Amino acid sequence: MTPDGLARIHARAMVVPRPWSAETFKGFLSDPGSVLALSGAGFALGRVIVDEAELLTLAVDPEARRRGHARACLAAFEAQAVQKGAARAFLEVAATNAAARALYASAGYAEDRVRRGYYVIADGDAIDAAVMSKTLLPA
Ligand SMILES: CC(C)(COP(=O)(O)OP(=O)(O)OC[C@H]1O[C@@H](n2cnc3c(N)ncnc32)[C@H](O)[C@@H]1OP(=O)(O)O)[C@@H](O)C(=O)NCCC(=O)NCCS
Repeated sequence: MTPDGLARIHARAMVVPRPWSAETFKGFLSDPGSVLALSGAGFALGRVIVDEAELLTLAVDPEARRRGHARACLAAFEAQAVQKGAARAFLEVAATNAAARALYASAGYAEDRVRRGYYVIADGDAIDAAVMSKTLLPA
């Protein structure tokens, strides 16, 4: 999928944080540690730094939801991350995002801590972020 295609899905899917532009996707994809996993009209994008994988964003087009695409993207992201040397994965998710939190919890991610006021939204309010992580490989 091209950076334009990723940005199109992101614009339709994201509320918090704000959607990213095609340029932003291009920048992340040019990182040699980047990991992009696709399923239907959904994708997961992250990066691996040494032995740690960070899930940067995950989005499924609203018309394609509840068909397992996010779960498939997450599993493929983790498999690619392990191939690149990751032993652990982590992510941040808005505390208000019940759907994503349920997905991550059911995929084995545990909540490590809360970052207060991490996402600043349009009207100047802020939303907490939960930091979640999962061991991909036993130590
Ligand atoms: C969160 C999101 C990626 C889920 O995509 P999806 O393809 O619909 O998810 P899946 O069909 O793979 O669902 C996997 C699990 O996630 C959870 N889930 C997904 N949507 C849910 C919802 N609306 N309410 C509660 N749980 C939900 C369920 O546990 C589900 O398993 P189940 O269907 O067996 O009950 C999608 O809603 C989305 O793009 N949201 C906006 C972007 C976003 O919030 N991204 C995450 C940022 S960190």
